[in-house]
Amino acid sequence: MPNNQKHQIYFIDCREGLEKLPDQSIDLVVSGPPYFDHIVYSKDEKNLSTKNYQDFLRDISEVWEKLERKLKDGGIVAIWLHDIYVKKEDHFELISFHSDIIKTFPEDLALRQIVIWDRYLKKIYTDLPKEEQFGARFQYILVFSKGKTAYEKKLKDFYWKPVWYFKTMPRFLGLKMLYHIVFFFGKIFYLQKILNPIFSQVKKVLLQDKYKFRGYQTTCPPELAQMLIKIFSKKEDTVCDPFLGSGTTLKVTNKLKRRCVGFEINKDARKMILEKISSKNVEVFE
Ligand SMILES: C[S@@+](CC[C@H](N)C(=O)[O-])C[C@H]1O[C@@H](n2cnc3c(N)ncnc32)[C@H](O)[C@@H]1O
Repeated sequence: MPNNQKHQIYFIDCREGLEKLPDQSIDLVVSGPPYFDHIVYSKDEKNLSTKNYQDFLRDISEVWEKLERKLKDGGIVAIWLHDIYVKKEDHFELISFHSDIIKTFPEDLALRQIVIWDRYLKKIYTDLPKEEQFGARFQYILVFSKGKTAYEKKLKDFYWKPVWYFKTMPRFLGLKMLYHIVFFFGKIFYLQKILNPIFSQVKKVLLQDKYKFRGYQTTCPPELAQMLIKIFSKKEDTVCDPFLGSGTTLKVTNKLKRRCVGFEINKDARKMILEKISSKNVEVFE
């Protein structure tokens, strides 16, 4: 593979790394941003996940500004995130993270679409701590464009996908119905004592959200990255992820025959990212 078609992975602060790219060289940005100091990925002071909320919002706006310069005219930025509950003494308060993030975008990247994915989280179907489930149920996909785009029609079509289109189903839907039927009759015939221990195991194993975060916190479901990359780019386009995390964007970009330029500051994620792809097809920068 010629060097100019290889994926490029930079294990440095994305703000520094973006400076190294030519202006107007990115077709699409797909990413899941960090969650200020709510989830700390590494202790590096340039890791945006070490910042308090106000500093984080200031610093992340710098990322979008730099990305805007590197994005081609008509390019799309699609990010994926959820709101957050934070603990305040004896109660939890909701931070409307998605709306605060929208305000950090520069004027030249206009908000074009919001799609909500209902993850159908129920307290019994996931391993997330209880308070986190409230914030993580609804995932927001925020889509911005740099001016008028070749994807105007696709943006409109995207709008008409109903919210529940992205609803996560429990792994075996039929079994969920069967479970409710058996539970219903169990209640009528007072069999709960016998059935409840069995049911709680069934719930845990069969009905859980199959997108529960695995391996790396807040891993993007590959299906979601795939959908965004398929809709908003074409083969051989350059797709950038400033916050690679476990490398989902890299993996999907490679599968869809696009080129990925990605950044990650957490050195612990290095192995996880690089094993997603053959070393022949990637240039690594530290
Ligand atoms: C929400 S996670 C990304 C998860 C990813 N979408 C996935 O599927 O695994 C955000 C990532 O941003 C990284 N990060 C935070 N600040 C950064 C910076 N200044 N430059 C590059 N990466 C950074 C964190 O280390 C973390 O891995």
